[in-house]
Amino acid sequence: MKRSVIRGTGRFLPSRCVTNDDLATMMDTNDEWIQQRTGIKTRYWIPEGETVGSSDLALEASKKALENAGWQAEELDFIVFATLSPDVFFPGAGCFLQTKLGITDTPALDIRQQCTGFIYAMSIADAYIQSGMYKKILVVGAEVHSTGLDKSTSGRDVAVLFGDGAAAVCVEAVETENKVGILGTILKADGKFAEKLMIELPGSKYPERINEEMLKTGGQFPIMDGTRIFKLALRKLPEVTREILEKTGMTLDDIDLVIPHQANLRINEAYQKTMGLPDSKIFNNIQKYGNTTAATIPIALDEVIEQGLVDTQSSTVLFLALGAGLTWAAMIYRFGE
Ligand code: ACO
Repeated sequence: MKRSVIRGTGRFLPSRCVTNDDLATMMDTNDEWIQQRTGIKTRYWIPEGETVGSSDLALEASKKALENAGWQAEELDFIVFATLSPDVFFPGAGCFLQTKLGITDTPALDIRQQCTGFIYAMSIADAYIQSGMYKKILVVGAEVHSTGLDKSTSGRDVAVLFGDGAAAVCVEAVETENKVGILGTILKADGKFAEKLMIELPGSKYPERINEEMLKTGGQFPIMDGTRIFKLALRKLPEVTREILEKTGMTLDDIDLVIPHQANLRINEAYQKTMGLPDSKIFNNIQKYGNTTAATIPIALDEVIEQGLVDTQSSTVLFLALGAGLTWAAMIYRFGE
């Protein structure tokens, strides 16, 4: 049977490290609040005043992933680009990335599943691979949040959380009877919470997508009912974990490492406690990067491989995410072949 196997990973973080003290010069916040409530110490933002899109960050990450896989960009059959911060309203960032990679004709699909973007994107790659349509797929998660945040005190609940960054993985179709690659996926969405976390403007539903008056409402910045999302995460992440374990016929003992989305360290700590996981079985890096949304899980994956925290011949990992939409998802991946 056809299995979707990761051949290479790569990440790219912009050079500008922004500390909590740096944020305190822009808005009424402080290092203690941010660390206590979120776990975040630093995040990376694109250089101030420069024109850098998500596709630019994605390009650097993709070059590393391709090199790691030993692939040329020309070999790619398909690109899936997950982002909530595309370079422009349209076309998708995947098209910009494709041309920056120096290739033509390769189909490129953007998806907008926010923090769950990487898992949704991997599931799309997996479906194309299993159908036999494509063999070599580049899956990318990339975000430039920093140019879209309200950095005044009124936006502080959201602005302190987000970082820019990108990561990519090369996924290949492998014909094998072994249980390797993507072993199971569960995708979920509940649109009744859509307005609990969103950027409203520009909005095609309005007679004018954006104008001076609309800008005064601040609808061009993200808004979030943080407490609501927090509570949903505490319930849904364990739920979807149990569901995927049941679906794949596994138990938590079969999972070597949980790689969860990084929205808030407290969410991941509560999840760890609920599931009874030892520290060695869950990976967190929110302290360094903040929430990089669609880029978070592939950045973490690239780091755990680099740090030798997984055996790339045999480890089984669980990807887990929840975010705007509301969307949430889980995927079990086994290294090997
Ligand atoms: N600095 C200082 N004080 C702040 C800040 C800040 N940056 N932000 C908020 N506060 C204040 C509030 O004004 C409030 O003050 P008050 O008590 O005087 O009213 C107080 O701190 C507590 O605010 P809460 O919102 O209750 O703080 P909470 O502990 O809930 O933490 C947070 C807020 C971090 C946003 C949390 O709710 C959270 O992480 N929610 C989930 C986020 C998430 O998972 N998002 C999904 C992924 S993102 C995506 O999909 C794009």
